[in-house]
Formats: sequence, C-alpha cells, structure tokens
Amino acid sequence: MNKRLDVLICGGGACISSHSHELKKKLIEEIEKNGLSQEVNLVETGCMGPCELGPVMVVYPDGSFYIKLDENSAAEIVQEHFLKGRPVQKFLWQAPEARKIVEQKKQIPFFEKQLKIVLANCGKIDPENIGEYIAQRGYEALGTALTRMTPEEVIDVITKSGLRGRGGAGFSTGLKWKFTHDSQSEQKYVLCNADEGDPGAFMDRAVLEGDPHTVLEGMALCGYAIGADKGYIYVRAEYPLAIERLNAAIAQAREMGLLGRNIFETPFSFDIELRMGAGAFVCGEETALMASVEGLRGQPRPKPPFPAVKGLWGKPSVINNVETLATIRHILLNGWEWFSAIGTEKSKGTKVFALSGKVTNTGLVEVPMGITLGELVFDIGGGIPGGKTFKAAQTGGPSGGCIPAKYLNSSIDYESLKALGSIMGSGGLIVLDEDSCMVNMAKYFLEFSLEESCGQCVPCRVGLKQMYDLLEKITNGTGTLADLEKLESLAYTVRATSLCGLGQAAPNPVISTIKYFKHEYLEHIQDKKCSAGVCAALFAAPCVNACPAGVDAASYVSHMGDGRLREAYYRHMQNNPFPIVCGRVCPAFCERKCSRGKYDQAIAIREVKRLFADWAIDEGLGFAPPQNPHREKVAVVGAGPAGLACAFYLTRLGYQPVVFEALKVTGGMMKVGIPDFRLPKDKLQAEIAVIEKAGVEIRLNSPVANIDELTAKGYAAVFIGSGAHQAQKLNIEGIDLKGVMSGIDFLREINLGRKVNIGNDVVVIGGGSTAMDAARLARRLGAANVRLVYRRTAPRCRPSFEELVGAEEEGVEMDFLVNPLQIVGKAGKVSGLHCIKTDLADFDDSGRRRPVPVAGSEYTIRASFIVYCLGQKLSLGLTGGTLNLDRRGHIAVDPRTMATSAAGVFAGGDAVNPSTVIESVAQGRLAAVSIDRYFGRAGRLYDQPRQVVEVHYDEEAYLKTIVRKEPHLEDAEKRVASMALEVSRGLTLDEAVEEARRCLHCDRNQAPEKESLQAGTVAMEAML
Ligand SMILES: Cc1cc2nc3c(=O)[nH]c(=O)nc-3n(C[C@H](O)[C@H](O)[C@H](O)COP(=O)(O)OP(=O)(O)OC[C@H]3O[C@@H](n4cnc5c(N)ncnc54)[C@H](O)[C@@H]3O)c2cc1C
Ligand SMILES: Cc1cc2nc3c(=O)[nH]c(=O)nc-3n(C[C@H](O)[C@H](O)[C@H](O)COP(=O)(O)O)c2cc1C
Ligand code: SF4
Ligand code: SF4
Ligand code: FES
Repeated sequence: MNKRLDVLICGGGACISSHSHELKKKLIEEIEKNGLSQEVNLVETGCMGPCELGPVMVVYPDGSFYIKLDENSAAEIVQEHFLKGRPVQKFLWQAPEARKIVEQKKQIPFFEKQLKIVLANCGKIDPENIGEYIAQRGYEALGTALTRMTPEEVIDVITKSGLRGRGGAGFSTGLKWKFTHDSQSEQKYVLCNADEGDPGAFMDRAVLEGDPHTVLEGMALCGYAIGADKGYIYVRAEYPLAIERLNAAIAQAREMGLLGRNIFETPFSFDIELRMGAGAFVCGEETALMASVEGLRGQPRPKPPFPAVKGLWGKPSVINNVETLATIRHILLNGWEWFSAIGTEKSKGTKVFALSGKVTNTGLVEVPMGITLGELVFDIGGGIPGGKTFKAAQTGGPSGGCIPAKYLNSSIDYESLKALGSIMGSGGLIVLDEDSCMVNMAKYFLEFSLEESCGQCVPCRVGLKQMYDLLEKITNGTGTLADLEKLESLAYTVRATSLCGLGQAAPNPVISTIKYFKHEYLEHIQDKKCSAGVCAALFAAPCVNACPAGVDAASYVSHMGDGRLREAYYRHMQNNPFPIVCGRVCPAFCERKCSRGKYDQAIAIREVKRLFADWAIDEGLGFAPPQNPHREKVAVVGAGPAGLACAFYLTRLGYQPVVFEALKVTGGMMKVGIPDFRLPKDKLQAEIAVIEKAGVEIRLNSPVANIDELTAKGYAAVFIGSGAHQAQKLNIEGIDLKGVMSGIDFLREINLGRKVNIGNDVVVIGGGSTAMDAARLARRLGAANVRLVYRRTAPRCRPSFEELVGAEEEGVEMDFLVNPLQIVGKAGKVSGLHCIKTDLADFDDSGRRRPVPVAGSEYTIRASFIVYCLGQKLSLGLTGGTLNLDRRGHIAVDPRTMATSAAGVFAGGDAVNPSTVIESVAQGRLAAVSIDRYFGRAGRLYDQPRQVVEVHYDEEAYLKTIVRKEPHLEDAEKRVASMALEVSRGLTLDEAVEEARRCLHCDRNQAPEKESLQAGTVAMEAML
C-alpha cells in the first residue's frame, strides 16, 4: 500500500557517523507517538551525496531535502511537516551564497547537473532489501542475458558501449572480457576490486553500501560472459558497513536463486565470496590483489602475463573495479547505444567523483564524462567557500596530478586529463584554493606512495625516498635550485623504471606541480617563503606570512591582549609606518589567513591595529631623526604610501631623504583617492607628520620632470613612487560627452575641494574600490539616485564586499551582470547609459567566469552624471635615466630589490603594479633596504631574531568559540548627510583587548588542536 509520505533517511557511512541511526530511532518514536505509522514510510538508504551535510533526509512527494539533522530535529519535523504539511525551513538545504532556502531536492544545484547511473539507487532504495532492488529492474539484465543472449553477445554490447574501467587505467571493459573469454580454461574467475586505497576516495564504498546488488549482478553478468562460475570481492576491512551489506545481499541473492547453481533455471552457475584486505594501497594493483586473495603477500608481479591469461591461481580472470561492474546492468537494460550517447567520443558514460577539499559542497557526485572541470567545481560543488580563489584541482590521488585554474574549461575525460598531466584515477577530486601549497601537496602524496610502496624494486623504494627528502628540504627552507633539478630528474627516472603502477605513477604529483606551479617551488627555495602559509618552517605565524610587508601581527596582537599599546605600535612601525591608514582601509591580507578563522572567525586584526594606532597619535609617539646622518643624498619621487614608506625607513637606516611631490598635498591616493568617510584626512596628516618628524623632508608642488635633474643635484639614489594616476578609458560611444568622468578624476576633484556638478541621477560603472567610493561619494554630494553597474557578480571578499554592504546601506542601487554599451546624450551632455545584461559563461585564465551578453536584454538607465572606474595606468611624466617598462607599461623592477634598469634608481607602489597601500609600503620599505645596500652598507633594518611575545591573561578562557568583535558603524542616514563623518567608529579599548585575546599565538608553533575548539576536522585539511 502506498503511504502518504516516503521519508528516505541516509544510512551511508558518513551520515551514520554523524548519528543518522539515532535520528532514525527518534523519528520512528515520534511517528508512532503521533499515530502516523500508517501514513509514513521510513526507509534507510545508501549515500545521497552531500556527505558533509549529514545526516540528510528527503521527504516525498514534495521532495524537501533536509540537512544537518540531529535527534532533536525529529520531533519538530514530525509535528510540522509530517502532521501539518509545513516543511521546516531552518533544516532545509540553503544555497550558501544566496543564503536562500531551497525547497525541493530537484532544485538544488548540487543535484541538478549530475547524471546518476551508477548511483541511481543510492539514496533511493533500502540496500538491505533485495525486493527494493528488484523493483528498480534489479536482476532483469541478468535474467535477459542468461535466457536470451549468448556470452559473446553480452561482450559485444559491453564493447560497443565504450565502457572503460573505472579503477584508474581506463582499459576497455569489453575487450578485457573478450580476452578472458577467449582464454581456454576449465576454471575462470571474476574479481571485484573494492580495495579503494586512494586517500579521500569513497566512491566504491558508497556503491557497496548503498546498492550492493548492482555489483553482484555486474559480477554475475561478467561471469556469464567469460565463462566463470566463481567471483571474489576484495574489499578492505576498514569498510565494515559495506562488508555487512554485501554479506546480506549475497545471502539474499542466494536465497532467491540469483546466485548459486542454475541461475534463472539455466545451466549457468555463479557464486561470490568476500575477501578482506588489510588496507595496503598496493593491494589495489591487480596482480598484488590476486596474490593477496591467494593468501600470499600482496606484491605486484610483472605483466605479461595479464590476468586475462594467467590470473587468480593461474587461471584466466577478469578484475574489474566496483564502479565498472555497477555500470554493466544499466548498459544491458538500456542498450549500448544509450550508454555510448553519454560522454565524449572516447570516454563514454558517467564517472563518480569524491569531491573534497576547498569546495562548498563536498561529497559524492556522478557526472557525465565531458562535463567541464569548472562545472563540476562551481556548479555542482558550489565554488570555493569564504570568497577565496580556486587554485587547482587534484585528480587521481597519489597517482594523479593537478589542473590549474586556466584549465577550468577542460573536459573531464580520460584523454583530456592525461593531456593536462593528470589522470582520471578512480575518482578522487580534491579542490585546492589559494591557501593550498602545491609543494606541500606534492610532498603529502609522495609520502603516501613512499609509505605504501611494497619495496620490491629499487627505483620505487629508494627513488621515492630521495624525492621525499628533497621535498622535505624545499618545504623547510633549506632546498637549493640543484635540489629542484635533481627532484625533477629523479621523478622521470622513477616513473620510467618502476615495476608497477604505484611506482610508475607516484612521481605524477611532483611532475605536474613543477609543470604548473614551478614558481611556488622557486619561492620556497629562493625567497624562503610559502605564500599559501602552509610550510610552517618558513614563517612565524600565518598572519605575519600573509602581510605583504611582513607586519608582525602575531606580536602586536599579543601585546594588545595584555594592553601594551605602546609596544604594539612600535612593533607595527618596524614594517609599516601607516597603522592609522591600514587600520582603516587595508584589505587585511592577514585576516584572510588567520588560523582562528578555521575555528570560528578570524581575529579582527585590522580593528585591533586601528585602536593602538589612534592611541599612539593622541599620545604623540614617534621617532627622532637620525643623529649623524649618512652623507649620501637620496631623492624620493611622490609622497604616496610607497614614497613615504621608503623615505621613513631610509631615516631608520640613517639617511635624510627628500620627497618631491607634484601636488600641493601629501599622501598620494590616500589623500586624493580614498574619500574622507573611510579615511579622515586629519588622521592621515597626523600619520604623515610622524614620518616627517622622523627626518623626512617633503617638498610639495615639486614635480620631478627628469631623473637626471636629481642626479645633477647630487642625489646618489632615487626612489620612484609616482603612482598610476591615469584612468583606463572606457571604450564606448559617448565617453567624451559632458558629465562623464573617470572615478579617480572625480574623487581627486572632490578630495581637493573642487566642485563637480553631478545632478540627481548618477551611474557608476565598475565593481572595485574606486567604483564603490565614487558611488558613495555621489550619495553624499546629494544625488538621489545612484546606480552601480558591474559586469560581474557582486564581490564576495574584502575590501570590495565590505564597501558594497556600506554602499547598499547608503542607498546605492546595484546592477550586477550588466555591461555598458553606449553613453547617450542630449546637446553634448550625458542623459543616460545604454546597457545589456550578461550571463556568466566559461572561465577565463584567472578562474573567473566570463560574462557574455544576453541578446535582447538591453535597457537604458537615466543619468545626469556617469563615472567609469576601470582601473589605472601609469602615465610616467618622468624622463631621463634608462627606465625599462614591463609589457603592461609599468616600471620594470627586480622584485627582490625593487631596482630598476637604471643604476641607483629604484621604484615601487602603483607605478610598478597598481595595488594597495600595504603592498606599496612593502615595496617602499624593501627599496630603502636595497638603497642602503647599494651604498655598500648592510641594509639591516629591524632584523634581530624574532622573540615570541609572552602574554599574561588566562589564554584557556579564550579557546572556546567567541564571536569576533565587529566595529561600530554610524547610522547610514547620518553617513549620507555628511561628507566627512567616518563610517566606522572602530572598537573600544576593552573590545580591542578582548578581541586580541582570541589570538591563538600560532608563532609559538603550538596552536591548539582544532578539535579543542570545533569538532569535525579532516586529516587532509592539514595538508591543504
Ligand atoms: C579611489 C581609490 C580607493 C582606494 N582604496 C584603497 C583601499 O581601500 N585600500 C588600499 O589598500 N588601497 C586602496 N587604494 C589603492 C591605494 O591608494 C594605492 O595603491 C596606493 O596609494 C599607491 O601608492 P603609491 O605611493 O604607489 O602611489 P600614489 O598613492 O598614487 O602616490 C603617488 C604620488 O606621486 C606623485 N607624483 C606622481 N608623479 C610625480 C612626479 N613626476 N613628481 C613628483 N610627484 C609625483 C603623485 O602626485 C602622488 O601624490 C585605492 C585607490 C583609489 C584610487
Ligand atoms: C597502486 C595501485 C592501486 C590500485 N588500486 C585500485 C583500487 O583501489 N581499485 C581499483 O579498482 N583499481 C585499482 N588499481 C587498478 C587495478 O590495478 C586494475 O587496473 C583495476 O582494478 C581494473 O579494473 P577496471 O578495468 O574496472 O578499472 C590500482 C592500481 C595500482 C597500480
Ligand atoms: S613500483 Fe613500488 S610498489 Fe610497485 S612493485 Fe616496485 S616497489 Fe613495489
Ligand atoms: S590566530 Fe593570532 S597569531 Fe594566529 S594567524 Fe590569527 S592573529 Fe596571527
Ligand atoms: S553518507 Fe549520507 S550523504 Fe553521503
């Protein structure tokens, strides 16, 4: 009898470990208590896919998909949903970005692009009930084959379908069967390879747990095709649930005559036994596996002879992977034409992947071959969490390689992955983001292969060890370029000379990371740096490592935790003389990598900094000029952050530099770009005054036209920090109409106190900082309607995200995914912007989706003033010297010294690479050190050994989850009414101290185990 509701609760391994059985028990109790037993059909199924969100449950007929349930959710769901028909919204799947509830399973993007063949029954039927399998046409293919087809016909169908082995090698299944069929022998065997030794892979386990009969049926069909009457499933002992369900399924199938003698009353007899493996990776190799089944040591042997000729106990055998066997019945039921129509020319059908790593939706997915990597990661996987960027996908586990962002449009199939230097493997797919170190990743997999090597042959046993040692050297900062060369050459030798697939493929992660990420190897070797913040030997703490200027946040945050503001300030000043500015406008690279963010939320490092910076200025802290300055004269061109930082650190090195500034004001873009409401100009000036007092002379209204002039005046070294002040022009019709201006010109005019007529309807084109600032400024100038038009989606990470929220609160309207087509005007004056909507299509080289116009979606926005913000370029008003420019037209420098092509001339900041205040500061500081060295001195700037700062509060108390302190913001209405009111009031002193105490003191190299703060960590996370 059909019941009113079908409730499918996931009984896959992951959901069971997150207590789905307890939930099921509670649901049964509640269903009975509410008298619903006759109306609700509760079924425990295999894995449904999104394992990390478990326990999961789906309720039909409406298709509500519940996630992250626990025992306590049962009563509410039964009361509200089962009894009153109202799905409980708070437990339904939420689209992470949109924070939107998705009502029905079929609307969830994670499922939408999947095509489930192998996993068709997983999450749908009770795997312990053969009746449910039969109801899904179970054993029909076997019945048909035994009664209506010859073995040759079965092999023919499988061959024509194009099915290739899913265990990794991708060999034609039909051909393998044919060879075994053609081998003459009384006894043959079918082996199912369920060893699944790749770290992170669990595809086979899910199939065995969720739909065991489909594998048994595939084996029986294979047995019929090749003439075998006996099959073995080699399954690892760590899969107890799979073993339990397989045993139950074999018993049921035997009982119903679907295994055993004379199946379907035909002469064909076939039976299956399980063999448990101890979990050695090498035992997944087919010859090692057979040795292990025979009770011998699981060691590979040379091939030929192949198993088809001489397999188990010397008899012809087919060895197939779980997924391969699970596909067989579907091909026979639906025809080879159906199967071969799915996928690409040479890779047919679907592939199951275990999606893991830095991706929003992790779990088990099945996709048609030929889907692009980008679709898999971004549409099904939901993209990279936390607004971070995609770096690469690792496929094929320890035998595979990585695929960088520029190949997101590549098709997933055997040939394409191989061409990219990776492999399909058995289906592990790990997504890596900007926080993943590729050198460390290669080391992780190499270590795995090394540990799993059977040790039989020298290249694998010794070669992998040598490779590992070299990687160890590189990741701990002692590696050399010669080591890298040796590593690469060893990799190719081991690949070419190892006996089995383990040794032959083990160098792949190294080879592919050197191919695509050699710069990371070089960075570890030459700069002793790991930008991803993974190789702990190379940095003091993740926050310090992440700061472009190496500002020691770990130390100043520790000082702040004890209320030592003065020490915090001076520690900061060692690397960055702009704590007031950076405490307000820095994108806070440090916070993006802060370890605390992995547990609850990153430390609000920027806010902590802002507090002591403001305090220090009020207290009048500062620096004295050099006592006996060096005689060499140094000139600095430009009083922006790059120039001023260079000049400040020159004073710390004993010089008295002169800064030449073209404008009548100091600060560069900090003064004439960033508006007052984000960075009050009195604060900026106070910070610049500290630099001046330290011995820097600033000459305003002093444009430098020719570097040689400076040389002639006796300046022995020059630093160019002239910024990039020319706007990139928007190339559309109407750009020269009156009332159209670039963002930086608009902001400069207002910041210099000049008047700009903008009217009531302002349109801003762009999505970065300048665009957000221009739009918010327009609101403050009185424009009632301010609309921002951007061709991509809303920015997801700082600083733009923060500014986007601020702009929205202040009444700026946003049109995302829109491209400007033409500026329209009347009588030479702008009147509107003609636009077209865009859709996101394939991926560009940076891994971002390319917006493409949607035909027929054009519309016009009324505009009295249009601001376009496309970025800046260098307009070097300087001649002289012999400055080389790079291919983007910026000053070319050696990034390790900031030296230009002209002797004694250094450059940094936006003139070299338009970026941020802190990056400009970093380059200015580095140039100061290089100038000191240029004069033959040591270039030693605060480079004494680092001391860990002791703290004296109860650290334990701050290890529990504590919500990050957010700054106090002024009311949006008040903000819009004032040009100068600072949007953020920051934290109070007490709040800043409390916030600083959340720091985990990673620099002590003993950050607490994650488990002590939050449960549910995966071992592999450490490697990512
Ligand atoms: C609207 C806007 C918002 C921004 N928001 C942020 C933000 O929130 N956070 C952040 O970190 N960064 C932000 N930035 C970027 C940041 O301001 C710049 O990266 C940084 O100021 C660059 O520093 P710089 O010293 O290289 O150049 P600049 O700050 O541009 O300074 C260069 C100086 O050199 C002078 N100069 C040029 N040519 C000569 C010459 N021939 N002789 C003498 N002087 C000369 C210029 O007048 C100028 O004062 C923003 C930029 C803009 C435009
Ligand atoms: C070191 C090593 C480990 C392997 N592990 C597995 C495994 O866990 N599962 C699997 O199906 N194949 C594994 N293989 C591949 C098998 O040797 C064999 O090719 C495969 O089981 C054949 O089945 P297929 O044709 O259906 O892919 C491994 C190979 C090597 C070299
Ligand atoms: S390549 Fe490695 S795992 Fe394979 S047989 Fe040789 S030593 Fe053993
Ligand atoms: S927890 Fe503290 S030391 Fe660790 S990264 Fe964050 S701020 Fe730095
Ligand atoms: S085990 Fe439940 S969704 Fe995978």
